[in-house]
Amino acid sequence: MKPLLKIDEVTRTFHDGDSEITVLNKLSLQVGAGELVAVMGPSGSGKSTFLSIAGALLTPTSGEVTIDGVSLAGMGGQELAELRLKRIGFIFQSANLIPYLKVEEQLLFVAQLAGMDSGKASKRAASLLERMGLKHRQNYYPDKLSGGEKQRVAIARAWMNSPSILFADEPTASLDAERGQDVVRMIAEEVKAEGKAAVMVTHDERVLPLCDRVLYLKNGALVEA
Ligand SMILES: Nc1ncnc2c1ncn2[C@@H]1O[C@H](COP(=O)(O)OP(=O)(O)O)[C@@H](O)[C@H]1O
Ligand SMILES: [Mg+2]
Repeated sequence: MKPLLKIDEVTRTFHDGDSEITVLNKLSLQVGAGELVAVMGPSGSGKSTFLSIAGALLTPTSGEVTIDGVSLAGMGGQELAELRLKRIGFIFQSANLIPYLKVEEQLLFVAQLAGMDSGKASKRAASLLERMGLKHRQNYYPDKLSGGEKQRVAIARAWMNSPSILFADEPTASLDAERGQDVVRMIAEEVKAEGKAAVMVTHDERVLPLCDRVLYLKNGALVEA
């Protein structure tokens, strides 16, 4: 089966004054449908750089990223923005919800940006909020939600446009152990239920049993535990 994410020998360097640092060094990875992959590694090892490149936010110095069979190589800014909106979901350490939109509206807003029919968007939002245990919160503003609830809204929003792959950068960092596990369980369940893929950078050992594979970023590449 064709992988949803394919990274081939990606290298990324940064200039630091006169010297050049190689953060990623021929990093390769394939993630298939139904897989949740955890990426660990010490601070400064290149995890965020890796996620940014895999998620089409940053271009590699060399190498190629392919999402759901589509190569990002040579795409322009407009095309990349469109791809990020429709094919990629992002979750960060903080939920980054829009303060003046109610929970349901957070989801409808991204669907509208992607041009989804409004009837279809309402149905999808209702079903996602139900699955995330947020139905009773649909008309709440973000400031009335707990940290765990906010992060679950961010997950629902990230899945709203049915992306092929979800990238999460330390999604449980601001949560206690139990809420953190809830959040990762929600990601794992959606990945299985919809046949999608997810890559999550985490320092949280307690969520690793919920992941299908655990990889370490070491010397600019991903290695098995
Ligand atoms: N835009 C940039 N310019 C220069 N150096 C950068 C840039 N982004 C990241 N780096 C460097 O790349 C290395 C890896 O950073 P990062 O990917 O944020 O690591 P991690 O997420 O694992 O903590 C660090 O040494 C950082 O200073
Ligand atoms: Mg980081």
